[in-house]
Amino acid sequence: MTALTIRRVQSKSKQLVRKGIRGTAPARATLGSGLRRTPLPPAVRVALSKVLLRRPWSLTVPVDRLLLGAQNARDFTAGDFAGATGNLMWPSTPVADGPHVALLRLAASRDLSDAEILESPYGEMALACIRFQGGYFGAADEAGVVEVARGFIAGGTSGSGAAGHSRAGDPILVAPIKGSNHYQVLDGHHRIARAIVRGERTVRVTAKWLPITTPLQDLLIKMSWLDGDRQLYQPLPGPELRDSWPTVRRCTDRLDKMTAFIEAHELDASSYLDVASCYGWFVAEFGRRGFVANGMERDPLAVPLGRAAYGLDEGAIQIGDCVELLRTAGRTWDVVSCFSLLHHFALGRGSVNEVELIKLLDGVTGTVLFFDTGQDHEEWFHESLRGWDTARVASFLREHTTFDEIIDLGPDADAVPPHQRNYGRHLFACVRTGAS
Ligand SMILES: C[S@@+](CC[C@H](N)C(=O)[O-])C[C@H]1O[C@@H](n2cnc3c(N)ncnc32)[C@H](O)[C@@H]1O
Repeated sequence: MTALTIRRVQSKSKQLVRKGIRGTAPARATLGSGLRRTPLPPAVRVALSKVLLRRPWSLTVPVDRLLLGAQNARDFTAGDFAGATGNLMWPSTPVADGPHVALLRLAASRDLSDAEILESPYGEMALACIRFQGGYFGAADEAGVVEVARGFIAGGTSGSGAAGHSRAGDPILVAPIKGSNHYQVLDGHHRIARAIVRGERTVRVTAKWLPITTPLQDLLIKMSWLDGDRQLYQPLPGPELRDSWPTVRRCTDRLDKMTAFIEAHELDASSYLDVASCYGWFVAEFGRRGFVANGMERDPLAVPLGRAAYGLDEGAIQIGDCVELLRTAGRTWDVVSCFSLLHHFALGRGSVNEVELIKLLDGVTGTVLFFDTGQDHEEWFHESLRGWDTARVASFLREHTTFDEIIDLGPDADAVPPHQRNYGRHLFACVRTGAS
């Protein structure tokens, strides 16, 4: 069985060479997954993987393009590690900001106690590996972790080949991250960390052929609102998103207008609700400014994303159709925002019409509602939203809500390539003057 599989793998390899390595990604993908599934002795698997799955030349890569990967176990991926530790952002974190570099920097400042090592991000990572993978470079308990860490601080560990450490001459191994010029580190975190602390800006690496995706990318692709498109509605950390995931709403312009308005009008406001909160960026920003901040969002994936990306608290985002959630809220928030949602209701895509929705938003607003919607100057909506210009949005708000003042705070700054013929939606502040 094993010999037969090896023959199959060898024959695939010959096919690859015949077709030329470039342009054969699907064949290499089949080969890669075949290799992983096949019960081969580890030495044979590694040898085949080296020949077939790695580029035969090395690359010089800036250290800031290297992101954290799996730790210490070849069959445990970075995604597995992120899932087991609940840290979705692990594979989206530069090695320079990771636990290996942090430990070396900490140790350079003073002698560390065992407790300090165990409580450091490096100690936590190593203990997590022991919990989920059964060991960390030969360590099976706290004492072992301290020993590995002290060896690393002293300049040892890699090169010995012992207990999962790379052997002398082993390359730093990385995998390209899809749609990005970043790489995930598969082997060599300790060596890269040392190079970074020495002040080196690049390292030589060997790259695999097949691009991988990060859990953050996977989650974003699955989010219902994106429909498989690679674009972001709100700013997200994650260096691997920078190259091919444009942020179509900059958001900071609307945030600045809201916070300036609250300040200028000296509104006494401490609670905030964002309806259709998407990833939760506005919720996080109001939270940072001292508000008790909540969101309502239909897509359940917004919860793990908001927790990982912005550190949102459990329960900060309520999941469901905002119509039901607003109807049953039974309370008000001082500040409410609702962006880019109402036109979907005006177009018949909501469970109620646009008038019902604005009345529900009015009903949960204590002091001020910040609001924008799609308008007919946008290429997307010339026909479907005909008549919904800025004046009509203002009169719609005056007619169907109980606010004392409707103030136009001007257009957003999102009408720029690739969406220069869209956006430019006006932000309105709908205020209860008696409440300030
Ligand atoms: C175009 S995005 C706008 C996101 C955000 N409000 C902003 O401007 O940055 C629309 C968002 O509304 C959410 N959404 C759509 N219909 C909804 C509903 N009935 N209840 C709650 N959320 C809804 C979508 O899942 C998506 O996150």
